[in-house]
Amino acid sequence: CGIVGYIGFREAWPIVIKGLHRLEYRGYDSAGVAVIDNGLKIYKKAGKVSDLEESVEGKDLSGKIGMGHTRWATHGEPSDRNSHPHTSGDERLAIIHNGIIENYSTLKETLVSRGHTFRSDTDTEVLIHLIEDIQNQTGLDLREAVRIALNEVIGAYAIVIMDKNDPDELIAARKGSPMVLGVGKNEYFIASDASPIIEYTKEVIYLKDNEIAYIRRDDLLIKTIDNKVRIPYVQELELKLEMLEKGGFDHFMLKEIYEQPRSIKDCMRGRIYPTKGLVQLGGIKEYADKLKNVDRIIIVACGTSWHAGLVGEYLIEECARIPVEVEYASEFRYRNPIISEKDIVIAVSQSGETADTMAAIELAKEKGATIFGICNVVGASIPRLSHAGVYTHAGPEIGVASTKAFTAQVTVLTLMALYMAQQRGTISNSKLVHLLTELDNIPSLVEQCLKSNDTIRVMSEQFKDARNFLFLGRGSGFPVALEGALKLKEISYIHAEGYPAAEMKHGPIALIDEEMPVVFIATKNSSYEKVISNIQEVKARKGKVIAIVTEGDTTVKNMADYTIEIPDADEIFLPLLATIPLQLLSYHIAVLRGCNVDQPRNLAKSVTVE
Ligand code: G6P
Repeated sequence: CGIVGYIGFREAWPIVIKGLHRLEYRGYDSAGVAVIDNGLKIYKKAGKVSDLEESVEGKDLSGKIGMGHTRWATHGEPSDRNSHPHTSGDERLAIIHNGIIENYSTLKETLVSRGHTFRSDTDTEVLIHLIEDIQNQTGLDLREAVRIALNEVIGAYAIVIMDKNDPDELIAARKGSPMVLGVGKNEYFIASDASPIIEYTKEVIYLKDNEIAYIRRDDLLIKTIDNKVRIPYVQELELKLEMLEKGGFDHFMLKEIYEQPRSIKDCMRGRIYPTKGLVQLGGIKEYADKLKNVDRIIIVACGTSWHAGLVGEYLIEECARIPVEVEYASEFRYRNPIISEKDIVIAVSQSGETADTMAAIELAKEKGATIFGICNVVGASIPRLSHAGVYTHAGPEIGVASTKAFTAQVTVLTLMALYMAQQRGTISNSKLVHLLTELDNIPSLVEQCLKSNDTIRVMSEQFKDARNFLFLGRGSGFPVALEGALKLKEISYIHAEGYPAAEMKHGPIALIDEEMPVVFIATKNSSYEKVISNIQEVKARKGKVIAIVTEGDTTVKNMADYTIEIPDADEIFLPLLATIPLQLLSYHIAVLRGCNVDQPRNLAKSVTVE
């Protein structure tokens, strides 16, 4: 979920609404806003922020203090009733909340026994009733009541609270969910990330876990939940406004696909020295010795980042000869994994806030492992939880389906694999010179891959009504196939499966008929001949073959129904190139089907619940 708040001298509504649009990537099941001016006014609606805007036409939206929320449903279906803000029983207090109150049902029982009645099914409403109840029982002021309530709560939250009777104060608090305060002149902004704030001020404070901010127009006080005053650390934002706009593209996803030559270059900047055959990763250099002797690496991640992890496994084993295991963070976390202080755990996450990945890190840390983070969002929770790490520097990714963040993660893992190889002497210097020279040229090869866009758009017409899709690859082409399938299902809602090409004959082959499009990663590498056999197996059963091939290949061209060429490069760089046409394929199919590619249904970009 995303939250925004404003207190100052301007009208709050337009600031809050614009901020919610910027945060819509975090969830868009429902949206709601509260403002105070002659009383508390709350407007909320199931659906997108634009649905909320339409529904308030002609209504009184005035007020110089306000807050808003865009929701990704956890407790309670997406409906007007379950949308935030929620209010106390007497409708004096309003709250917006991102996260989960785990002990909400116990708290709710107690409150019900004390006569509280609830208007929604949410855990959030329980929290605001609890605060009201504490005030009623003790006569304490709101600041103290919030602090005491937060001490009773188990779970994760970022909350903002307003009091109808005090239109000069917002109270904000966080634990486990991100929150940024923007510092203006006689005004303050609150948001889940800096994107709603950037056009008003560059001065920000990242609230830390267990901190509460009491915000007035001309005064800010930050305390911990055990009542200690904290001196806020104001920092300057590096984000630029144009990074958050579409810049002439129809969708953020397409813009981000096209940004990849630049984002991959940014990711490598200052880290590779091709003529010397040298990789430098400042973020993990303190662990160079540990890398020399480490026996095992475990990669934990979710979703697309997990696919990057699978590419990482292939790269690290191939280049540095270290055994790697790749785990879904959520599974790793809940099955008593065998792990010790000798292990290195690499957590991969675009947002740096994914709750499952954070829980996996915490567990590995407890067991003494060294944690490396690979994240895109600078200053997010995962980089802070990790011992060391490498940022991907892909810039803000707004499209919910990950594209440039994925290739940047793969780039970092490639750099890490080569760095480890350099430390362990598993690749000679002359080979490193060769590989790094090729890597340095990858951005221009990605540029070349993008030239297939028109061909892919035309080809997509043939497949827009398909009901299923299969994606097949071998070696590092296998995670590329998985990612291709995930992208297609995420944004076009076509059922798609990724599979190792050789495994097809042990099951999925039963699905193949003339209706079934099968995408093959069939570039010229060590498994080329084998993939050709797999293509023939599909053709023999009348499947439609779309093959990603190496430029100039005629063998596969003669067999496949459609081919898309990518430039030739060393096998270890294949994932960076083969991914590009698959991104474009899913994009065009989704657009042709009339889907909302930037905000696919039910998904959210940053999932801060376990
Ligand atoms: C969500 C997104 C996915 C993403 C996953 C992991 O489910 O919809 O696109 O891959 O979270 O996110 P992270 O920020 O940890 O990479």
